[in-house]
Amino acid sequence: GKVRAPTHIISTISDDRGEEPCYAGVPMSSIVEQGLGVGDVISLLWFKRSLPRYCTRFIEICVMLCADHGPCVSGAHNSIVTARAGKDLVSCLVSGLLTIGPRFGGAIDDAARYFKDAYDKGLTPYEFVESMKKKGIRVPGIGHRIKRGDNRDKRVELLQLYARENFPSVKYMEYAVQVETYTLSKANNLVLNVDGAIGSLFLDLLAGSGMFTKPEIDEIVEIGYLNGLFVLARSIGLIGHTFDQKRLKQPLYRHPWEDVLYTK
Ligand code: ACO
Ligand code: LMR
Repeated sequence: GKVRAPTHIISTISDDRGEEPCYAGVPMSSIVEQGLGVGDVISLLWFKRSLPRYCTRFIEICVMLCADHGPCVSGAHNSIVTARAGKDLVSCLVSGLLTIGPRFGGAIDDAARYFKDAYDKGLTPYEFVESMKKKGIRVPGIGHRIKRGDNRDKRVELLQLYARENFPSVKYMEYAVQVETYTLSKANNLVLNVDGAIGSLFLDLLAGSGMFTKPEIDEIVEIGYLNGLFVLARSIGLIGHTFDQKRLKQPLYRHPWEDVLYTK
């Protein structure tokens, strides 16, 4: 009989052995013929299923809105300094990407985890925020360096508007907004930031689309898929900043002494 050699790799998202590559079983030609977009490709390769258009459009809006936020933010700054040190594109890109984490752009998964846990347990925003304070943990998805209660983040407003008009339910987002109302009563910089907006809205997408079972949602949140949205999106801007610096033939960056507090 046939003896199946043991394999060293298991893969379930794509297959390139046939006439054309397939993403989660969908041939590339069909993706192109149907006029699908990058949101659909993300659905297939990350979630292994075709999601309804309102979901894939939401994913695309996240990618577009998070593609860049100017040259001053952590990621762009790193990419710019690296480009000016004469490094190659990949080095400039990863140098910027490496700043993405719990403070900058990489709070989406934790925002989803904490908002979900608090909402599902029925904690009031007051109970949730104060319990985080007791544990000494900053609420992921809350707070911004420059955005304020009277200078909201346009990206957050656009995502909320889209979801209110297109999602069957926005219960997690509404909870995040209630949390924001409470944190804003404490300090004006404690707004719901773009990470918190995406984290809470993705919970609504997962729960409301009817496309995921409860264990699947728990697994997505536990593994942490959602920071991938920011990483993917911001790569667009970091690559742009790298080209910009090279086009401008910018010299090696050196930080000015005057801007350093030398002290003992
Ligand atoms: N939850 C509770 N309290 C907070 C939070 C928060 N998320 N953020 C700030 N504070 C309070 C704290 O009391 C803090 O004092 P502490 O240093 O004793 O903890 C005080 O506000 C002042 O904080 P700063 O450090 O001055 O605020 P900063 O402007 O540096 O922080 C930041 C901005 C890093 C975004 C912060 O709000 C934070 O850590 N948020 C949670 C992580 C997060 O969501 N990051 C994503 C931001 S959006 C993006 O990067 C695309
Ligand atoms: C970003 O998307 O990079 C910003 O929200 C971060 C910042 O500090 O402005």
